[in-house]
Formats: sequence, structure tokens, C-alpha cells
Amino acid sequence: MSMYIENNLQQNSVNSKEYQIYLEQCHSNKVDPLTAEALLSKIKNHKWLLSEKLGRDVGMKIATLDYLENTEPLGQAHVEPSGLPLIAGLEAERIDRSVWDTIADSQPPKQVVNKRIIMPLTQADLASKHAVVPPRAIIFFGPPGTGKTHFVKAIAGVLQWWFVEVSPSMLMADGEDRLAANLKNLMEQVRDLENALVFIDEFEEIAGNRDTSSRIEKTITNEFLKQVPLLKDRPHKNLLVCATNYIRQLDSALLRPGRFDCVIPVGSLDDQSRRRIFEHFLADTNRRDIDIDRIISEIPLFTPAEIEYLFQKVRQEAFEQECVQGRDCRVTTAMFMKVIPTIRQTLNDEIFEAFQQDCDEFTRY
Ligand SMILES: Nc1ncnc2c1ncn2[C@@H]1O[C@H](COP(=O)(O)OP(=O)(O)O)[C@@H](O)[C@H]1O
Ligand SMILES: [Mg+2]
Repeated sequence: MSMYIENNLQQNSVNSKEYQIYLEQCHSNKVDPLTAEALLSKIKNHKWLLSEKLGRDVGMKIATLDYLENTEPLGQAHVEPSGLPLIAGLEAERIDRSVWDTIADSQPPKQVVNKRIIMPLTQADLASKHAVVPPRAIIFFGPPGTGKTHFVKAIAGVLQWWFVEVSPSMLMADGEDRLAANLKNLMEQVRDLENALVFIDEFEEIAGNRDTSSRIEKTITNEFLKQVPLLKDRPHKNLLVCATNYIRQLDSALLRPGRFDCVIPVGSLDDQSRRRIFEHFLADTNRRDIDIDRIISEIPLFTPAEIEYLFQKVRQEAFEQECVQGRDCRVTTAMFMKVIPTIRQTLNDEIFEAFQQDCDEFTRY
């Protein structure tokens, strides 16, 4: 191992990449960078605890040895955030930081998310100086395919927190009658997680309006109304993020201030954001020179999901052509232009108008 890493270990200034090399060379354990990073933060804590226990300052090497021998054997550790598994089948994922960069700075609500969610969490001291309380519970709403899930993953990526997705169907897996109990169980565990983002998609399915819903749905909504404030009472670093295509169907009590800290719309893209997504998919496409400006001007209402589908179609076409012709076939601007009119679009005037009304009525951050 290099003197440099050795030195940094002694100085307690080793970074996760160097720590990964150290684990591999000195403990014959190959771990991925994220595991090394997660382990490093635990070891720093363990070093402190062990020093307290022994009444002398121990170094990173001793702390690592002691931790691996006595606390968590390497390989089993750190695949799940503390407190997991929540309920059977739930998995924690690591999201790459680069997902955030696939979203153009001009794409709403990137700036809002950055200022209101990410900065207060990453600049905690400054936030506390200004008495800015970082949000704990957030709702994203907007038409399907507009990038809600993508935003949520991007946040987990930037924060380098665990991403844990819960779908309403998971909560209903053992029958509707167990839904409220499962939800309570889930929320009890979520509130004790550290460095985790818990995502509930299709939120309207479990938090529907109590006036129009069945008895079971009422119980669930009530459970939620109870659980969200309990989550916010805990000092842990975690976020509950819910997404819905149908904000109007949510119970109005949930939408009042005090429950969710932010209610954020994710809607149409501007040309710059559409271009960023287009270029993202173009990078993996076998293609000729593409007239991007022309294509972008042809798809002013395409959602990210539709851009993705457009690429699926042109890539398939190039693939099929090559299968038949037996020579390199590349996607051309003309192929895009041919496919564009065949793609059914989600966003039309009516949906836009309804979304605009939802924005006026529900947005809060
Ligand atoms: N900024 C982006 N860059 C690349 N792909 C994106 C971007 N935003 C969304 N997508 C892709 O578009 C598709 C639809 O987005 P998604 O987040 O699932 O929408 P929603 O949750 O609003 O229905 C997904 O496959 C997603 O990965
Ligand atoms: Mg989604």
C-alpha cells in the first residue's frame, strides 16, 4: 500500500477511494466504492467509540480491524440502511450522482429542489444559523411520464442516501385489511432510518380523499395523518417523498401545511431540458449526424417518457434494418421525423390547463 494512503490513514484524512484500496490490499476484501464510503463513515464513528472505551486514541487501522472482527463482518454489512428490511421484499438502492446532471438546470423544479431540499440538508449548519428547517416530507405531482420518479432518484443520488421504494401494492400484498397495519409498521421503521429517502409512488392509492373513499381507505388516510407528524418529530436524516399523478384525489387534510413540507409540481419541459434528455439518450444510440435543433422544435410537448419511447422506436428500426441488410445501419434525422408523428402524446391543452390549475391550488414550498 502506498505511503500516501498509509499516511492519510494515520492522519484520519483518508478518503473513500483510498479506503477502498486499503480494504482490498490489507484485508483482501474487494468492495465497491459505495460500500467503502459507507464503511468509512462507520469506522470513523467506531474509532471514536473504541478510543473512549480503551481510554487511548486508536488509529483507523485498529478501528477497522476491531470493527470487522467484532461488529459486522465485511460483505454482509452495509447493503441495507440501518433499520431495514422494513417489510418483506423491500430493497434499498444506491443511485448514482450523475442522475442529477441528466436534468437541465432550467427544468422546473430543479432549482426549487436544490434550494429547498438539497441545500438545507447538505449545508446543515448554515440552515440552522438561519433557522431554516430542512423538509422531511414532500409530495411531487404532475402528469404521467414527466419525470417525478426520476427527480426523486436524482435527489437520493445527490445526497448519496439510500433509495427505498415502496409501492402501494406492496403494502396491500397480504390483503387490504392489513394495509393500515403495514403502513404503520413501515412508517415506524422509516422514521428511524438514517441517510435514507423513502419513496411512495402512486400515493393517491393509499391517501385518497376520505369523503369519497371506502372505510378501509379512510383508515389508511387517517393513519397517514397520524404518522407524518411523528416522522417529523424525529431528528434523523431521512426524507419521505410521495408522488402522484392525481393530486386532486388526495385527502385535503394531508395537503394542508404541517403535514407535508413541500408540494412540488413536475410538469412540462422547456427546450433546454428537452434537449438535455434528448442528448442523454442520443449518447447511446448508433447514429449519423443528427439535426438536434430541428427535432427539438418538432417535439415541444413531449414528456421525458415520450422522448425515451421515441429513442426506443428509432433504435429498433436501425437494428431491424441491420439485421436484414447485414451492414452498419445508423439512426438518422429522417428516421426521427418519421417516428415523431406516430407517438401518442400525454400532454394536450386540456391536461395542461388542469395541471396549471393544480399548480395554482396546491403548490407549496
Ligand atoms: N432528465 C431526464 N433525463 C433522462 N431521462 C429522464 C429524465 N427525466 C425522466 N426520464 C426518463 O423518462 C421516463 C419517465 O420518467 P418518470 O420519472 O418515470 O416519470 P413519472 O414518474 O413522472 O411518471 C423514465 O424512464 C425516466 O428515466
Ligand atoms: Mg413515476
